[in-house]
Amino acid sequence: MDSNKRPEDMERITTPELASAFIDEQVEAVRAQVGDQKVLLALSGGVDSSVVAALLIKAIGKQLICVHVNHGLMRKGESEQVVDVFQNQLDANLVYVDASERFLDLLDGVAEPEAKRKIIGAEFIRVFEEEARKVGDEVSFLAQGTIYPDILESDGVKAHHNVGGLPDDLQFELCEPVKLLYKDEVRVIGRELGLPEGMVERQPFPGPGLGVRCLGSITRDRLEALREADAILRDEFAAAGLEGKVWQYFVSVPDFRATGVRDGVRAFEWPAIIRAVNTVDAMTAEVPELDWALLKKITARILAEVPGICRVVYDLTPKPIGTIEWE
Ligand code: XMP
Repeated sequence: MDSNKRPEDMERITTPELASAFIDEQVEAVRAQVGDQKVLLALSGGVDSSVVAALLIKAIGKQLICVHVNHGLMRKGESEQVVDVFQNQLDANLVYVDASERFLDLLDGVAEPEAKRKIIGAEFIRVFEEEARKVGDEVSFLAQGTIYPDILESDGVKAHHNVGGLPDDLQFELCEPVKLLYKDEVRVIGRELGLPEGMVERQPFPGPGLGVRCLGSITRDRLEALREADAILRDEFAAAGLEGKVWQYFVSVPDFRATGVRDGVRAFEWPAIIRAVNTVDAMTAEVPELDWALLKKITARILAEVPGICRVVYDLTPKPIGTIEWE
């Protein structure tokens, strides 16, 4: 049987009972696969890697080594949540690498979106590789949050490059316990494993993170303004009960300024651009008709609370023609 093919009679995991049965089954399977060996996992804080981490912690405890690389482009509180949930609550073997300065130094003065993406992607692999080498001798397995759509979309190729190309002398066998599941099933499993709702319902977040939302050449002050404005947006969406209802929503901040008046004095500060989209597969996307009062509240809070932002706009562009991300 092709282990990358979901059996036609496999029941969709929709209930806590089915999730619990799946977890028990995979705990046994993982234990049988890895024995007393160690397993390495790149823990981004996304739904898939977080659920795999929680599942493996249940199966093999401290034999799992989670590596969380903070590239300095995470949203407000995200790396802290990873540490809190996995280190403090689940008592995981977690290596937390704060590589923010490395990434921001490398990105200094780079404005072209594809160049930024390449720098972030390559550096991410380099940092993970450094950590993998530190533990390389003791580790035989690499766990990945591959899910079924990854396999379907890539003919089994892309899934194996989730962490990027690791060097040949680091030879790991793969451990991919949720590779036959769809995203909604992974969420049910995550809930059953006790992960916080904010983590289980986390919206998609691009690998290069806020790097492609701090438009043009990234500066630390503008990145900070973006992070704060984005946190306000998420906060207000959650308060309005839109978490998990609107597919993706975020703030971008461009690298130009607009004129305003603050306390009677001319201000020359950045605009914040709100983007919210609904989509099925991210190939096309619609902009939801957000409640006007919600937009006004978010605007008022950003203008009052975020230094450096003096204007807020809502992007009404569907995809196509606009991509979801600005860069
Ligand atoms: P676009 O902007 O192409 O985005 O309409 C479609 C979806 O993909 C996400 N995205 C990325 N995800 N690495 C990722 O892992 C990336 O470089 C990247 N760029 C865009 C985007 O957030 C949206 O959900």
